[in-house]
Amino acid sequence: MKENESIFKRLGPLFFGLWIVTTVMLVGLFLMGRMSFSSLEDGRRVVEVSASDKVLILTEMRELLFALNRMHGALAVGDQQAAADAAESVGMGMVESLAEREASLIAKLPIEMKKLGFSTHENFDDIAKKLRDNPGMDQRTISAEIKTLTDKCVACHAAYRIEATY
Ligand code: HEC
Repeated sequence: MKENESIFKRLGPLFFGLWIVTTVMLVGLFLMGRMSFSSLEDGRRVVEVSASDKVLILTEMRELLFALNRMHGALAVGDQQAAADAAESVGMGMVESLAEREASLIAKLPIEMKKLGFSTHENFDDIAKKLRDNPGMDQRTISAEIKTLTDKCVACHAAYRIEATY
């Protein structure tokens, strides 16, 4: 009996130590869990760019939205030519005009993002051509074309986020 008591006395600090270690691990797991939870909230891939490139990208983005806005406005009054002009303003011509300025930026973007970006600009040109070649085009067909185009905006926005890190 006396021997048992002394064993427990000797093991006391060990149990206490284990309790501390377990508590620290549980708190650690809890905090790590919270961290991975908050990054899961926004599962987009971060693309690091320079501060001036970020301004350039976002300016271009707002032009895309503005072009869509003008296209819808023109289509609402049946003006396919004006809609085509708006679409063309953000077609591949826009990419070419920015090519020199953007060359180093484009090289740094993930390949999938680049493909999606180029195909979005090409899509605007396709729509412009269809609008010009087919006067009196069916409204639903136009809407379907614009939907396919905006699917790309949605896809890229779901996948990427940009951060100015230098
Ligand atoms: C290849 C990828 C890609 C495509 C395609 C794309 N975007 Fe973006 N867009 C982005 C990224 C990345 C951001 C920044 C998001 C962030 O960091 O939270 C952005 C931001 C924006 C913003 C916010 C601009 C600001 O000033 O904050 C607008 C508006 C926008 N996009 C419109 C569009 C529209 C409209 C389309 C389609 C016609 C489109 N984008 C297609 C990648 C893309």
